[in-house]
Amino acid sequence: MSDSIIGAGPKRIDGQRKVTGTALYAADHHPDNMAYGYGVFSTIARGSVTGLDLDAARQSPGVIDIFHHDHFPDLHRSPASMAQGNKVEETRLPFEDNQVHYEGQFVALVVADTFENARAAARKVGVSYQRDDAIANLDQGVKAHGTTSGSGNHERGDAPANFDGAAHSIDVTYTTPVETHNPMEMHASVASWEGDRLTIYESSQGVVQQRNALAKIFGIPQGYVRVESPFIGSGFGAKLWMWPHAVAASAAARETGRPVQLVVPRQQMFTTTGHRPETRQRLRLATDNNGRLVSLRHESINTTSFTDQYVETCGSVTKSLYSCPNLTVSHETTQVNRGTPTSMRAPGAAPGLFALESAIDEMAHAAGVDPLEFRMNNYADRDESQDLDFSSNHIREATEKAAEKFGWHDRNPEVGSMRDGHEIVGYGMAACNWEAIKRECEARVSLRADGTAYVTCATQDIGTGTYTIIAQAVSDLTGLPLEKITVRLGDTSYPEGPVSGGSWVTATTLPAVAAATREAIEELKGYATSDKGDFADADSDSLEFEDGQLTHNGQRVNYVDVLKGQKLASADGHAHTQGADDRYSYRSFGAHFVEVRWDPGISSLRVARVVSAIDVGRVINSMTARNQVEGAIVMGLGMAHFEATEYDARNARPVNNDYAEYVVPVHADQPPEVDVILLDYPDLEFNEFGARGIGEIGITGMAAAVANAVYHATGKRVRDLPIFKEKLMDNIPAVQSA
Ligand code: MOS
Repeated sequence: MSDSIIGAGPKRIDGQRKVTGTALYAADHHPDNMAYGYGVFSTIARGSVTGLDLDAARQSPGVIDIFHHDHFPDLHRSPASMAQGNKVEETRLPFEDNQVHYEGQFVALVVADTFENARAAARKVGVSYQRDDAIANLDQGVKAHGTTSGSGNHERGDAPANFDGAAHSIDVTYTTPVETHNPMEMHASVASWEGDRLTIYESSQGVVQQRNALAKIFGIPQGYVRVESPFIGSGFGAKLWMWPHAVAASAAARETGRPVQLVVPRQQMFTTTGHRPETRQRLRLATDNNGRLVSLRHESINTTSFTDQYVETCGSVTKSLYSCPNLTVSHETTQVNRGTPTSMRAPGAAPGLFALESAIDEMAHAAGVDPLEFRMNNYADRDESQDLDFSSNHIREATEKAAEKFGWHDRNPEVGSMRDGHEIVGYGMAACNWEAIKRECEARVSLRADGTAYVTCATQDIGTGTYTIIAQAVSDLTGLPLEKITVRLGDTSYPEGPVSGGSWVTATTLPAVAAATREAIEELKGYATSDKGDFADADSDSLEFEDGQLTHNGQRVNYVDVLKGQKLASADGHAHTQGADDRYSYRSFGAHFVEVRWDPGISSLRVARVVSAIDVGRVINSMTARNQVEGAIVMGLGMAHFEATEYDARNARPVNNDYAEYVVPVHADQPPEVDVILLDYPDLEFNEFGARGIGEIGITGMAAAVANAVYHATGKRVRDLPIFKEKLMDNIPAVQSA
């Protein structure tokens, strides 16, 4: 058995299909006789639909039907239970009633023979409303109806008593705006029915959950629904759970008797498919004379919708990153007239660590300690929130390695003191942290008589490299080269796998794939030692399998010959592996170091360098792992500098709902130097591969590292994301984000 393929950096095995256009995405599917749906979306954020004028739309060319709250089949809600595997984030069904809870909500759906005809007719639908005053933002929500307690709260010791009278303390509030996922590929469904069986192509990070939710909604057995999502143009969390368009498309297909394709327009990607909610976070920290934390409170409020409670668990990391005997974490929500929020890359931790890691910087300054030294002195050695040891924690080494490479120790701590020509140089750092989760999983592996292996699992590859690492695991155990291994994902006809979220996939799927591979090898050994086999006299346990060959006492037989000799197609394994145990606290760790350059003469702010060291257990694919962290760093820079969905305070309407005005980093915004150090310590308490998953941790702490560097350069402490340049200019009123 060779282990060199684990940790190597082979290219994505699905790459060729993607660059040659043979990888089909959801909306690339055009079943015979397919019709097109186009939504009519509410132009008010709160109220009700009082009338629909459909005459002009009905006479528009190619129109087949127009659905709305008075003309839509009776469906059922999904229980929306993660445990049952049928989670949806927006529980209200489209066209359930005439109520409007957010701007951009479906109020009608036109189905026509072409996309253009559907869209043209949709624009002819007249909608009259009774408009109520909308709650447009967090402040308005808190003022109008206060807050509701959320989940994930934690309390230990007595934080208030140990805050009062402490040697040093800070009491600061941070805010983060709504951010919208904006994957390149828009949400899309292609639904078709055969009798009472539904097949739907969806851009989905979770085909199994969508299948089960659709079965509940249409009241049919799970086995009658097939969801396919072999390729998706990313999701960042927006595609974890099904949104109303998929229900609308499925119902329209059943009612019209034709397959229906429905693509969510880019503008509605800001309304009806989730977003990261707005947060307000109050941090109160105190230390003793030696700069040791004695009290820590992290209280957050996030916006949610009027239809569902979504909790952004901003304090999730705060519970365990630092050692502190007196600590409180609380989460509250307030309802606003926006669509239901959802997980966005590192939910909770991304906005939460902007606040916590900014506050740690402020606390270090207040206590007169270097921020790096402050962290080293206060990092927790065990998870004090759960009273558990960490399975593996190398945050001190990560911090030191990155600091060394970055040159942190050459930093002059005085604000604005480091100059290079016109520019003022700022250095900032922050810790990063994310939970490691492993779920139960099934996978099937066939070793086939044509010399290939065939692997199936109903998880997804959202562009991150899942196809490739699964092939690497099979290659590791069989010795077959990657090009002889076919991996099929994203189809509910395969054994059940996890959603592509939470950085779960690597740790969850690889043990199942490995177990299925071993089962297939066992079956093969059984054939080889049967009466007709090549090793008929041997005990199956005494056979070895390496490089695609069975060996026994120096005799080697290619496994293909074993199968062919008995006229067999394949040896198969189907494994079902369990989720993580609770012997340890399983988490990943890291640190970001950022250099910003501020040119006050022309108000230019840029990130010049990033050095990040990440401790995620063993790295399975050095290239795709690095890509995940690099991408997360870029997304973190977007969070720090650019991203904010702005809502009109008068009517709760998102105003920058397109790629032109919702600004994400482009190539010109990339830092010239991004250096990712992967520590690569196998976490063998977590799973046999020692891997914890890497999709999300890289964004955590990034915005704080930037904000801390901006403070070091400019002396301005920006506590409200994003850090628009206007906020750094003197004598110019700061732009208010929503
Ligand atoms: Mo991630 S927010 O779990 O797709």
